[in-house]
Amino acid sequence: MVNYKVANENLAEKGKEALYVAESKMPVTAEIIRMRFSKEKPLKGITIAGCLHITKETGILARTLKAGGAEVYLCGSNPLSTQDDVAAALVQEGINVFAWHGNTDEEFYWCIRECLKEKPNILIDDGADMIVTAHKEFPELIENGTIIGCQEETTTGVKRFKAMNKKGALKVPLFPVNDAKCKNQFDNELGTGQGIVSAIYGMHVLFAGKNVVIAGFGHCSSGMALRARGLGANVIVTEVDPIKALQAKFAGYNVIPILEAIPDADIILTATGCKHVIPAKAEVFDKLKDNVILGNLGHFDIEIPTKELYEHAKEIKPIRTNVEELIFPNGKKVYLLAKGRLANLVLSEGHPSEVMDMSFALQCLMSEYIVKNKESFKPGIINIPTEIDDKVGSLKLKTMGVNIDKLTDEQYSYIHGYEEGT
Ligand code: NAI
Repeated sequence: MVNYKVANENLAEKGKEALYVAESKMPVTAEIIRMRFSKEKPLKGITIAGCLHITKETGILARTLKAGGAEVYLCGSNPLSTQDDVAAALVQEGINVFAWHGNTDEEFYWCIRECLKEKPNILIDDGADMIVTAHKEFPELIENGTIIGCQEETTTGVKRFKAMNKKGALKVPLFPVNDAKCKNQFDNELGTGQGIVSAIYGMHVLFAGKNVVIAGFGHCSSGMALRARGLGANVIVTEVDPIKALQAKFAGYNVIPILEAIPDADIILTATGCKHVIPAKAEVFDKLKDNVILGNLGHFDIEIPTKELYEHAKEIKPIRTNVEELIFPNGKKVYLLAKGRLANLVLSEGHPSEVMDMSFALQCLMSEYIVKNKESFKPGIINIPTEIDDKVGSLKLKTMGVNIDKLTDEQYSYIHGYEEGT
């Protein structure tokens, strides 16, 4: 029996079309790994709960985990990122889904609890909300060894687990899949980088000639800056890390503090994992340029001070789906994308399938690795094995028809030795 709560089961046909499109663009996850998993069933008897953005790409991940023998439960990792058609289609395929677009905070946690009630063995999180809830409300799953390992998909989730671990509060083996090379160097940089077009989808705006402020110069934000520049924008970067700021400066961007950047900004896009990147003060809001577009691509809706902006506005007008015009007491208009939530997922479909292929291939292989090696783990953060990272990279290249060189024995000895010098 499939357990589920989705917005509308009648959307399944449309969802199947979306899944069909993603399948052919994710050959590592949907073909190579799935074929092997179908034969070997490495996840037989294992229940996996994923708290992930319910997109067509996550659907492909769920299909492969199921092909490997797992019972799969899914809930959304953000109240606005669930694609209701995909959720409905997955239910028809026997995936247990508790997710719908626009759920409240209370409903969001209800969905997480429904998944945890099924006593999952592996948790795949995106932002840490499910695993933190397991610690708080389902400690018996951790104490009695039901949960054998956990995987985290995004930077903000990893940051939260590092803080938990430091305090001695992390009680599960936690694999930060986000930190694998095949994840954050591609998914974050290319996927979120291209996510700036969500601002275009949102407002149908021309980037060329605009002053576009990108907050941060990390994995996601450096990709965003590059893409904004490619579209002809005058890109201004803000940072708090001196090395990242230097990298941005040497890459040719104008680097200034956010308060200096605000008055001239036509578009401000954040992806820092930090809070109140635009300071949450009325006097700062009043300095925003008339008609400025504000968009966030970081995990939580606090990078742009959404709540405070709503409070400051004297009028809030929805002008397009998930785009609002905020009219301030001083008469200025501000356009807020996606209620301050991940604009690339809310206004568009999230990352292109091609990059999610690598992220989700890692999630599949890590689930298998956890099952195989479960006896050897201790609670805490455990790095993704390099062999798995490299394996995903090699498979991706193979599916792209790209061949690379191999070290000769002589080169291997040279690189790993010290004798040869001047
Ligand atoms: P990162 O750690 O590589 O980069 C973040 C950068 O922001 C750092 O260079 C940091 O110094 C800078 N920063 C921090 N506070 C700042 C502030 N107040 N002002 C200016 N810069 C500041 O992190 P990454 O991987 O780029 O992730 C950023 C956020 O995006 C996270 O919340 C992550 O979970 C999220 N994310 C979103 C995705 C999406 O689909 N929209 C996909 C992947 C990650």
